[in-house]
Amino acid sequence: MDAGIDVEHLTKTFGRGKTPALIDLNLRVEPGETLGIVGPNGAGKTTLVNLLTGADQPDGGSVRLGANLEMATLDQHRESLDPKSTLADALTGGRGDHVMVGGKPKHVVGYMKDFLFAQEQMRTPLEVLSGGERGRLMLARALAKPSNLLVLDEPTNDLDLDTLDVLEDMLGDYDGTVILISHDRDFLDRVVTSVIAPDRDGRWIEYAGGYSDMLSQRGADLKREAATAPVAGEEKAEKIAASSAAPRRRLSFNEKHALETLPKTIAKLQAEIAKQQRLLDDPDLYRKDRKTFDSASAAIARAQEELAAAEDRWLELEVLREEIEQA
Ligand SMILES: Nc1ncnc2c1ncn2[C@@H]1O[C@H](COP(=O)(O)OP(=O)(O)O)[C@@H](O)[C@H]1O
Ligand SMILES: [Mg+2]
Repeated sequence: MDAGIDVEHLTKTFGRGKTPALIDLNLRVEPGETLGIVGPNGAGKTTLVNLLTGADQPDGGSVRLGANLEMATLDQHRESLDPKSTLADALTGGRGDHVMVGGKPKHVVGYMKDFLFAQEQMRTPLEVLSGGERGRLMLARALAKPSNLLVLDEPTNDLDLDTLDVLEDMLGDYDGTVILISHDRDFLDRVVTSVIAPDRDGRWIEYAGGYSDMLSQRGADLKREAATAPVAGEEKAEKIAASSAAPRRRLSFNEKHALETLPKTIAKLQAEIAKQQRLLDDPDLYRKDRKTFDSASAAIARAQEELAAAEDRWLELEVLREEIEQA
C-alpha cells in the first residue's frame, strides 16, 4: 500500500556537452507530502517532473512509483477540449449531472460553485470562457479525477488570484501527494511541506519546509561555502556577510529589476546555447565548416559562463530579498 515515490541516482542530460538537468538525484516523496520544485527557468524542473511521472526516461538511475499511485495532472496547455461542449459536460464528461469528487458524487452545479462559476454558466460553451475561467475549469477537471498524486507544473502562472485561493483550499483538503512547480513563493510557503531546488551542475538539494525555509537554509550554506572558499569566494563572502550583519534597507531599484529580468536573461542564454549546440550536433561540421564550428564553440563557452553568472546572481538576490523581508 505504498503511494510514495522513490528516486535513486537519477540522471538526465539533454545533448552532448551540456550541463545535466539532473545528476545523481536521490529522493523519497512520502505519501501525503507536498513537494515544491523551484529554480530558474531552464533549471530542469519540468524535466524532473516528467521523470518522476514516467513521462520521460532518465539516462541513469531509477524512479519507483508506489503500486497504488493514481496520477492527475493539471494541464492547461496540452489538454484539448471540444470548444462547442458545455462547461457542465466538460466537468461530468457528458454523463449526467454529477461529478465524482474524492469517490463521492457531487452535483455539477455545486462543484462549479466551488470553482467560482455561476449556475447560469452550466450551458456555456467552452469557446467563450475567459482565460481565467479556463484555468479554473482545468483545475476543476484535474481535481475531479480520482487520484492520490497531483502534479502541477507552474499552475500559478495561468491562474488568477481568486482561482489561486481555490487551489490553495483544494490542496489543503487533498489527501494525496502533491508535486508542485511554482515561482510564487508565498503560495509555496502556504502549501508545500518540502522544497527541492537546483544547486549547480545538475545537482539538486531537498529542503524541509517551505520556500522561505529553503532560502534561509540555502543562505546559510552559501555563507559557509563563501567563508571557506579561497580568494574567488572572498568578494561574495564579504557581500553576503555585509548583507546579513546589518539588516539592509530594501532592495535597490537595480536589484529589484535584476531579480525580475534575470529569469528572462537565463532563458535567453539557454536558448542561445541550444541554438549553437544544434550547429555542433552535426558531426561533419568540423570538417565541412571549421569557421562555423569555432564560432559556435566559442559562443557556447561564452554563453555558459554568462549563464552561470546569471544563475548565481539570481540566487544571491533571492537570498538577499529573503533576509530583508525577514528583518
Ligand atoms: N526534450 C528536450 N530536448 C532537449 N533539451 C531539452 C528537452 N527538454 C528540456 N530540455 C532542456 O533541458 C533544460 C531544462 O528544461 P526544463 O526541465 O523544461 O526546465 P524548467 O522547467 O526548469 O524551466 C533546458 O535547458 C531545456 O532546454
Ligand atoms: Mg518548466
